[in-house]
Amino acid sequence: MILVKMLVRRPVFGKHALAPRCADFCVGLGHPERAARSFGKRDVTMSTDIQHMLDRIWAAVEARLDIIRGEAVSKPVVSAIDEPVRESRIRDDFAVLDHLDAALSLAKANVLSDLAEEFDHTRDNIQWSQNLGYTAENSVPGFLEGYAYASLAGPEGPVLCSTPRAGYMLLGPNVTYPDHQHEPREIYLVLTPGCQWRLDSGEWFDVNAGDLIVHQSWQKHATRTGDQPFLAFAGWLDDGDRNGINWA
Ligand SMILES: [Fe+2]
Repeated sequence: MILVKMLVRRPVFGKHALAPRCADFCVGLGHPERAARSFGKRDVTMSTDIQHMLDRIWAAVEARLDIIRGEAVSKPVVSAIDEPVRESRIRDDFAVLDHLDAALSLAKANVLSDLAEEFDHTRDNIQWSQNLGYTAENSVPGFLEGYAYASLAGPEGPVLCSTPRAGYMLLGPNVTYPDHQHEPREIYLVLTPGCQWRLDSGEWFDVNAGDLIVHQSWQKHATRTGDQPFLAFAGWLDDGDRNGINWA
């Protein structure tokens, strides 16, 4: 672990811009000045809050068994990078963000309420994105209006690393995230009830708040919501390119 002094901007998105401040982090990110420059004037933020949140999320992951195979999951070793890599469609006005408050309220009423509270406290430091490979032409109707991802760690930061990618996924009500697949193994830690999952194009099954789901390498998976929004932590256990996700 290397002590890194990072430039922190909080929050720089949307309606709540505040002045930057500095803070110290032990995140193993390399040279402090280079790391600070890499964030510089970009819309990328970082804070001790986010690192702390990641620690708590991964602890919650490691404290349970996945509901498919009953296996335990360990947080991958962090592979740090020095410079951010722009790879996503980043905006602060995705339509699905209208459901963020409702999703957080739902999550706070369920078993991982502590993580929901912590996410709510740091949400202004986090930017929302979509996979550039998902377009109106190749997605099912309504998907791009109903999905967004908030990176906490990965090539775009705010914690800079190639592995593990980690963040929160938000889906609106009555949205289907269609079958897709990718090489890196993946975990989902679900914060809200009422959604369904499908693996290998099989039958849909119910998933509840607190459930941990593991996707094996190249395993097809899909998620759909009912009349409530959905919030979950998603992490990749292996190195891989976000744009290498394929619709299955
Ligand atoms: Fe996935």
